[in-house]
Amino acid sequence: MDNKKSGNHAVGINTRLAHLGHDPHSFYGFVNPPIVRGSTVLFPNCDVMERHDQPYTYGTRGTPTTNALCMALNELEGAAGTILVPSGLAAITIPFLAFLSSGDHALIVDSVYGPCRHFCDTMLTRMGVEVEYYDPAIGSGIEALMRPNTRLVHTEAPASNTFEMQDIPAISEVAHRHGAVVTMDNTWATPLYFRPLDFGVDISMHAVTKYPSGHADIVMGTVSANAAHWPRLLEAQGALGICGAPEDSYLILRGLRTMGVRLAHHEKSALDVARWLESKSEVVRVLHPALESFPGHALWKRDFKGSSGVFSFVLGADMAVAKKKAHAFLDALSIFGLGYSWGGYESLAVHVNLSDRTICKAPLEGPVIRLQIGMEDVEDLKADLENGFAAAGAA
Ligand SMILES: Cc1ncc(COP(=O)(O)O)c(C=O)c1O
Repeated sequence: MDNKKSGNHAVGINTRLAHLGHDPHSFYGFVNPPIVRGSTVLFPNCDVMERHDQPYTYGTRGTPTTNALCMALNELEGAAGTILVPSGLAAITIPFLAFLSSGDHALIVDSVYGPCRHFCDTMLTRMGVEVEYYDPAIGSGIEALMRPNTRLVHTEAPASNTFEMQDIPAISEVAHRHGAVVTMDNTWATPLYFRPLDFGVDISMHAVTKYPSGHADIVMGTVSANAAHWPRLLEAQGALGICGAPEDSYLILRGLRTMGVRLAHHEKSALDVARWLESKSEVVRVLHPALESFPGHALWKRDFKGSSGVFSFVLGADMAVAKKKAHAFLDALSIFGLGYSWGGYESLAVHVNLSDRTICKAPLEGPVIRLQIGMEDVEDLKADLENGFAAAGAA
């Protein structure tokens, strides 16, 4: 079927997710693509070999399985092309390597995913790229930071751990006027709730480790580019010898089939818990962009189609006892696991470390606890969190 239309009727996202990426009749009618592994691909003769004139040429350059996932993501992101990489972190570092050179200046949002900052402050800096962090609330004010050698502006919205929103169209407009490429870590929203390329971003990055996988059993990243930036991204992937594994690609494609219904569940449960937390006397603030009380709410409402299942809250505590209270709270939880990743079926909690921030510093009212709301029943999750509050109160 045409993934966007059935006759004149535009089909919904769950219908598209059920059918994109693979045409069953291209492989004997099986509804899922085969898992094709391989290094060597044979050519019928020297002429075809010399011209590379066939769909597959070598294992690192893709197989029908990895290609099925790339096709699905191209459609979801509205992209000219997608590369697969071994982790979500690599989905950030590889485009940086593709588009930055020694002597360039890169603007990175201060509330960025922590390990991205580590890459910028170590390897990228060592390679002669000048890295500068900016306030996520900067909007078109980013104009003042642009220099003749600014080549890349990296965005992430909502922010890691503290969920600040960014005015992506305003930032993209300024960056493009100055000849810079705009990249965005879109992991939180997935292309179902935000499509960066429609808002001026050139390169959309995902840790498909999270919601596309949905089951906490795969680590993988994807990078999707618009037409202007696709050749250089593809060239960098080839030059670096980076590729996605066919088995993992198969599982991510399988995860995409149910991502719409899973996300809807995450969204509903997370908002339920977030609103409940807002009513708790132990909680100073809930950091969730879909809450009316959140400073970035208007931007979220303007640009996003939904919210996913990860957000934070500030547990009220004197800073002298913040860590003790946070640990007491977390250690009392039995349904929420203590773990770093998110996007799977299980709920998780973590005491967030914001010590690397230079602009969006940690709140002074108490520790920041990040929650990933999974598939469990919400009343059970609230009861678990109540145990945490009781333990924190007694600590
Ligand atoms: C926003 C964001 N981007 C990227 C990543 C990196 O993903 P991975 O764990 O697959 O390297 C993470 C992981 O937590 C993340 O939260």
